[in-house]
Amino acid sequence: MTNPPRPRRVVVLVSGAGSTLRAVLEAAREDAYGARVVGVVTDKDGIGALDIARECGVPTAVVRLADFESRALWDEAIARTIATFDPEIVLLAGFMRLLGEPSLERFGGRILNTHPALLPAYPGAHGVRDALAGGAKVTGCTVIVVDAGVDTGPIVAQAAVEVLDDDTEPTLHERIKEVERVLVTATLGRLAREGWTVSGRTVRIGAANPTTEESS
Ligand code: GRF
Repeated sequence: MTNPPRPRRVVVLVSGAGSTLRAVLEAAREDAYGARVVGVVTDKDGIGALDIARECGVPTAVVRLADFESRALWDEAIARTIATFDPEIVLLAGFMRLLGEPSLERFGGRILNTHPALLPAYPGAHGVRDALAGGAKVTGCTVIVVDAGVDTGPIVAQAAVEVLDDDTEPTLHERIKEVERVLVTATLGRLAREGWTVSGRTVRIGAANPTTEESS
């Protein structure tokens, strides 16, 4: 009898309420999911996501920019902190800062981000607001492999959400988040179980081991 594959070690970075984190933690209760959350790292104290992590018994670390003399020192510290959990995959789930060179050097190609718009439309911190202001009739969410740009990395998965005439930023974001939780958990599970390759802008799930060098 062969042993089932070991679940991939995932560190989740968060800055907010943590509903996406909660969805991933719930999915990861099943061994067959293929991923387990080994640590949660935040750039803020007192956020809902930290309570959720603690409730679920997941180790946490807070790395606040204000505690460092420079952005460069914070960049080093957050990369070091993530590394202490020895992750195979790093998931940014509502993490509202850009990761710098130190994290990209260590975990490049293995960092995923979820964004509440259909990239490449409406990148940046206000994807929902910008889609509304732009008069979009359909928006949604996108999972990308993080690169050095702002929401510019290769696209892994997307899901669409209709914009309603009376939508406000909160109502639209709430509907996007419902869809996003499903997209993120399903995508993370597939990537963890099947691996992936990136060729130029094209991400293909499957036929690769996430820990090999040519693939992520
Ligand atoms: C998601 O829409 C994510 O894309 C955005 O912030 C939201 C995270 O919400 N950047 P939560 O903290 O997981 O509830």
